Amino acid sequence: MMAQAPDLTAPKRPVSHSTLGRAQRWSWMFQRISGVVLIVLIFTHLFINLWWGDGINQIDFAFVAGKLASPFWQWFDFLMLTLAMIHGANGMRMIIDDYARNPAWRATLQWALRIATVIIVVLGTLVLFTFDPCPADADPSLLPSLCEDI
Ligand code: HEM
Repeated sequence: MMAQAPDLTAPKRPVSHSTLGRAQRWSWMFQRISGVVLIVLIFTHLFINLWWGDGINQIDFAFVAGKLASPFWQWFDFLMLTLAMIHGANGMRMIIDDYARNPAWRATLQWALRIATVIIVVLGTLVLFTFDPCPADADPSLLPSLCEDI
């Protein structure tokens, strides 16, 4: 006699629409691709800041001001900032979906995550593209010594 397949029961909690289909596939692909790119970006970041030249001893206000005066490092840091934030937030989104069972609690956490991510990306980007080590209207006694030569 042929064995009878068991009846399948419906999942206890329906999977939310946002985690289905195409969006789910893109999110999976994005995590893998951004993960590989982030490994390259972060190891370059650590190599340049901790090993290259005088290594860790070179990191001071002038070092950061010098890096942020270069469009290359501005765009490098921008890419690292946005990819790291979206990668991390996307991972947290899945963890919240998996573990926060109460719908109101889940929605609150997801919104807190979205708001925190947007604030950090916006503020981080503003720093990278508007940073001025020697603002013209600042009190000279508050400016770093590197501004004396300008
Ligand atoms: C001991 C380890 C680290 C040191 C000493 C360090 C040092 C620095 C310094 C001096 C800057 C200023 C700008 C620049 O150098 O480009 C910076 C910016 C930045 N670092 Fe690191 N970093 C470290 C680890 C990391 C790691 C692991 C990440 C991983 C995501 C990271 C992400 C960033 C980002 C995104 C910025 C730009 C932030 C912004 O101004 O918006 N850093 N870091």
